[in-house]
Amino acid sequence: MVGDSRPIGVFDSGMGGLTVLRALAARLPEERFVYLGDTARLPYGTKSAETVQAYALQATRLLLGEGVKMVVIACNTASAVALYVLQESWDPVPVIGVIEPGASAGVAATKNGRIAVIATEGTVQGGAYARAIHLQRDDAQVVQQPCQVFVALAEEGWTDGPATLASAQHYLGPLFEGDNAPDTLVLGCTHFPVLANTIRQTIGDEIALVDSAETTAVAVADALESGGLASEGHTGAGKTIRFFATDSPERFARVGAIFLGRSIDESDVELVDLLKA
Ligand code: DGL
Repeated sequence: MVGDSRPIGVFDSGMGGLTVLRALAARLPEERFVYLGDTARLPYGTKSAETVQAYALQATRLLLGEGVKMVVIACNTASAVALYVLQESWDPVPVIGVIEPGASAGVAATKNGRIAVIATEGTVQGGAYARAIHLQRDDAQVVQQPCQVFVALAEEGWTDGPATLASAQHYLGPLFEGDNAPDTLVLGCTHFPVLANTIRQTIGDEIALVDSAETTAVAVADALESGGLASEGHTGAGKTIRFFATDSPERFARVGAIFLGRSIDESDVELVDLLKA
């Protein structure tokens, strides 16, 4: 085996971050991953910044104990409020969040400079997306909308149907009214990509729809390369992806399949207690 064969740690409040893991695994087939979903304490999106920071520290401590070479915060809420705390705490281990890559995707997609961001309450309240977008394009107009109900709909597997469509119309309709409407919508939450078809049905074909999964995978690939951390292949011994959850491996496997886009074997999900990590 050549290169740095240690795994990459990926952390989320639950299963939604598997949308990011999916993009990472597709772009980086040489790498191994350890994914932790803090399912016992989901949602993070309605909790205070201090609470999310404390949870994120506990979760990433466990990943470091598993020998990861890098931490990817797949959770938008944790990226929004805990990125700098984790970077400072775990230096020199690189810690990468999803907000900056998501902002880059939005800035690259917009033509009229008006960008809408939908996210959890916590992400919107912290204003991290607006800051990240303005750092890249200072004249951008950013409108943010919390859509916490989308998290529950996605977890329920209600990726389409009347309830999901009605929720999408309720949240998104007003965002795109009038002559000065945004031309780009950033899905600023791990759970929202699985609702993309219903969202598209609501906003029409003209609005660019972007999420941070792909751009985060690019950022991780760059960081591996520049840090001399890239693996050049694994031997096939051991699993390519290991899953940890803080509650019900059965539910993690069942609901996680919606986000990962393939089935997960319950026996591959290890139950962990972060308070003992
Ligand atoms: N993972 C969270 C995020 O991306 C969504 C779910 C939650 O509220 O914990 O913001």
